[in-house]
Amino acid sequence: MAKYDRNFTDELRERLSLVDVISRRVPLVKKGQNYWGCCPFHNEKTPSFSVNEDKGFYHCFGCGEHGDIISFVMKSENVDFKTAITELAAQAGLKMPDYKPKPVEQVRREESYYQIMSDACDIYQKKLFEPEGETALNYIKKRGFTDDMIKKYRIGYAPKNNIIANKFINLKQDALLATGLCRRGDFGMYDFFRDKLMFPIFNAHNQIVAFSGRSLDGSEPKYINTSDTELFHKRKTIFGFNFARDAIHRANRSIVVEGQIDAIQMQCHGFPETVAPLGTALTEDHIAILCKSNRNIIFCFDGDAAGQKAAARACDIVLPFLRDASEVKFAFVTGGKDPDDVLKTSGEPAMRKTIDQATPLVDFLWSLANAGFNVSTPGGRTQAEKFLKQKIEKITDSDLRNEYEHEYDSRKFNTWHKWKKSSQKIINIELPQIDDITKNTVIFIVNKYPEIAERYGDFLANLGIDFDSNTPDMNMGEKSAEKYIVSLKLQKYIEKLQSEKKDLTSRLLSGEDIIEEIKNIDKKLDEAQQKIDTLISI
Ligand code: UTP
Ligand code: MN
Repeated sequence: MAKYDRNFTDELRERLSLVDVISRRVPLVKKGQNYWGCCPFHNEKTPSFSVNEDKGFYHCFGCGEHGDIISFVMKSENVDFKTAITELAAQAGLKMPDYKPKPVEQVRREESYYQIMSDACDIYQKKLFEPEGETALNYIKKRGFTDDMIKKYRIGYAPKNNIIANKFINLKQDALLATGLCRRGDFGMYDFFRDKLMFPIFNAHNQIVAFSGRSLDGSEPKYINTSDTELFHKRKTIFGFNFARDAIHRANRSIVVEGQIDAIQMQCHGFPETVAPLGTALTEDHIAILCKSNRNIIFCFDGDAAGQKAAARACDIVLPFLRDASEVKFAFVTGGKDPDDVLKTSGEPAMRKTIDQATPLVDFLWSLANAGFNVSTPGGRTQAEKFLKQKIEKITDSDLRNEYEHEYDSRKFNTWHKWKKSSQKIINIELPQIDDITKNTVIFIVNKYPEIAERYGDFLANLGIDFDSNTPDMNMGEKSAEKYIVSLKLQKYIEKLQSEKKDLTSRLLSGEDIIEEIKNIDKKLDEAQQKIDTLISI
């Protein structure tokens, strides 16, 4: 073992799910914290073989066999270590490295860097409570941080001078540069973080690998983070994961928010399973780390355009990780707010409601397709169809991929084509609920254009929408807004006619002579559909 690179095997363990790998050979059932199945290493009829995904170990209470993902492949396929690793690397989509042990020299170097980071953090923490740190302390308190929170997250203040460069003046400069704490300028070493509120960034073993510094004077950028170093790879680090790991296991899900202050506030107010990516958008590595515990993720993004974009991107990244038992959902905090604002102004229950009402991925993708293209025209529907197809192709689990295809086929039929079809032949139509995007658009229109609200008041009041919820940010002129409401009204009218027709049809089957009535409804349906078509084309 020692002669192989620990980083690589760790990466394999991180990327792959032990339960996934084992359940390809042994059917497993979850009971309590562990998964159970019949031991593949001895003959048995009742399961005594347990798998602990979180710890990454299996153990057989019957024959005593135990080990990790690598030894499982070695033993069950009777192959050597290198073959097992090669196979697992292929599954994880990783390139095999040249096997070299991590040189002792490097291990020592990294240890010294960890020490520097921790010492620097101590210095920042102390500064926060000194007169120099007063602005920073007031700021963080105003953001709702208690003393306990400040302590737990080791929040500090980097003063205006070069405190780190000066403190460590006797240290080898290379080490300071390598940690990203200092840089070299024309006049010697200077601190990277100055006059910043400091958030340390921990790895999964609670070691500080980087810092994120928030500006306190309104200067841009709002946050600066340590650049990538030997210790810190931004694409592979999730803020708050060290604190959230156990909770993610217990809650059997993770929540991903956009900002680190959001993550901390969420963790401290009822959602300890929350994490945030760092500055950059979410990466595959972030998802791989979360999926190691379970594949249930709620993305909770800001309701603005940036949040929508981030959600669409998250959707792309998460698709290959989906399994049939995965629950991936998207929640949006509306009204130009973020989770931190919601917790502060409306408290945990409001946040919980947002999380509980999150949109499942299957619906989110559908709404992206419908919002992104003009699905009232054949061309637009073709584009939307291509869009969905492209997304579905990213799902690696073939059964699930098929299910998504069927699901969207039926939605396309029931919502895109149903009006035309319904006037030709009798079909069963479920009444569609108002989706989130429609709901938000209506809330926006009602708040922005009171005259329109007044004009269509009766209709709007019957939609069952809570108009007191937060107003989303949108861009829509008054004319378009009115068109939107009129076509929505027509759509609802069509839905009503369709449901009447459905009732009549069932009476038809029992022999009643109501052909004329049905024809009459068909006529009304055609008229309404024509009105919508004209409305959209002008
Ligand atoms: P936001 O701009 O939404 O900030 O960026 P925020 O979290 O609400 O910040 P506060 O609440 O005003 O303090 C979301 C995240 O994007 C990264 C940070 O990680 C931030 O938490 N970010 C943002 C940067 O890295 N640099 C920036 O300049 C801005
Ligand atoms: Mn914020």
